[in-house]
Amino acid sequence: MFLSTLPLVTTDPNKLEAQAKEHLSAKSYAYVAGGAGERATMDANRLAFRQWKLIPRMLRSSPVSLQTTLFGHTHPSPLILCPIGVQRIFYPDGECATARAAAAVRVPYTLSTAASSTIEQVADAMGDAHRWYQLYWPKTDEITISLLTRAKKAGYSVLVVTLDTPALAWRPWDLDQGYIPFVTGLGNEVGFSDPAFQRIFRAAHGKDPADDITAASLAWAQDVFSGRGHTWDDLRLLREHWSGPIVLKGIQHVDDARAAVEAGVDGIVVSNHGGRQVDGAIGSLSVLSEIVDAVGDKLTVLFDSGVRTGVDVIKALCLGAKGVLLGRPWVYGLAIGGQKGVEQVVKGLLADTEQSMGLAGIAGVDGCTRDMLRFVEYSG
Ligand code: FNR
Repeated sequence: MFLSTLPLVTTDPNKLEAQAKEHLSAKSYAYVAGGAGERATMDANRLAFRQWKLIPRMLRSSPVSLQTTLFGHTHPSPLILCPIGVQRIFYPDGECATARAAAAVRVPYTLSTAASSTIEQVADAMGDAHRWYQLYWPKTDEITISLLTRAKKAGYSVLVVTLDTPALAWRPWDLDQGYIPFVTGLGNEVGFSDPAFQRIFRAAHGKDPADDITAASLAWAQDVFSGRGHTWDDLRLLREHWSGPIVLKGIQHVDDARAAVEAGVDGIVVSNHGGRQVDGAIGSLSVLSEIVDAVGDKLTVLFDSGVRTGVDVIKALCLGAKGVLLGRPWVYGLAIGGQKGVEQVVKGLLADTEQSMGLAGIAGVDGCTRDMLRFVEYSG
């Protein structure tokens, strides 16, 4: 099999980060490639994938289909693009370039609350393609309701509520750059443009957010979006103002997965935020099967953190995930080639997934079962 033109973006998952580095400022590179603490959880995310091995089956040739149904919609694949904040620090057109790419490759895109383009701009860029909205849950209900109302009106279908970021972790690569992107990259982000936020900001500071970008006012703004102080009971407010599916992102403990069922949400993302929050936390794939065993028949379990190859996607599906969120790799594609770069990364991953499924004798997502895997710890 030959490609008609050479790819803009390397097809080697182990070279992608280095290629993107060439296109990024030191600060932007540190923000995407860095993690919390000594990046032990980032390492654990990858090691967890290495510890599960596929056992390929033979003489089962049948056409492979990646088709997947999530929350009542049938998609061509189980992939979803992760929420990623402040994308204009990676590429001038930021979220809109990503959104157009997602629409072109027919993969849902999850817009972050911390985006550098508005809810409405990204919706326009996507036409009628599937889009999800990720909430950094504001402390003030008025802002939460305003964001949800706007997202609903702009056609976002699934609400992803990120629970693991009541504050940013200790992230040395950012700190060494004197850079806290959620704060210093925030000038034109969605939260700032929200009318309810602007009203509350003016009441507190006597100025518009755009006229008062100081470290203190930005820290104040970040605190507004921190979600600190919310409880499981507070999810009722989100349910009141969001009629579509609600998915909780950042679940790692089986009891939190059970609490999500109790709270009546529709799904969870088993995720440790790509090792960017609690350093020393367990690799995300290591908790997937126990969570699926506990709640997989009661809500939709999705997965992220550390997915880099087609076989990674297959492993997460075999351990019971119904869909897989892709993070850093497409951000690297965005940095290298904007919309085309994101498209190439996603298309490459989908082709790799399909090819690997076929080679392993798996016909599709339903054929990804736990007996296709074995846990092996190689040493030395
Ligand atoms: C993130 N992530 C994230 N998550 C979220 O809920 N809202 C956000 O705004 C962001 N922003 C963000 C920025 C950057 C640069 C990265 C790398 C990550 C976390 C993201 O959605 C996802 O959980 C991780 O990226 C998954 O880990 P890997 O696969 O990228 O290592």
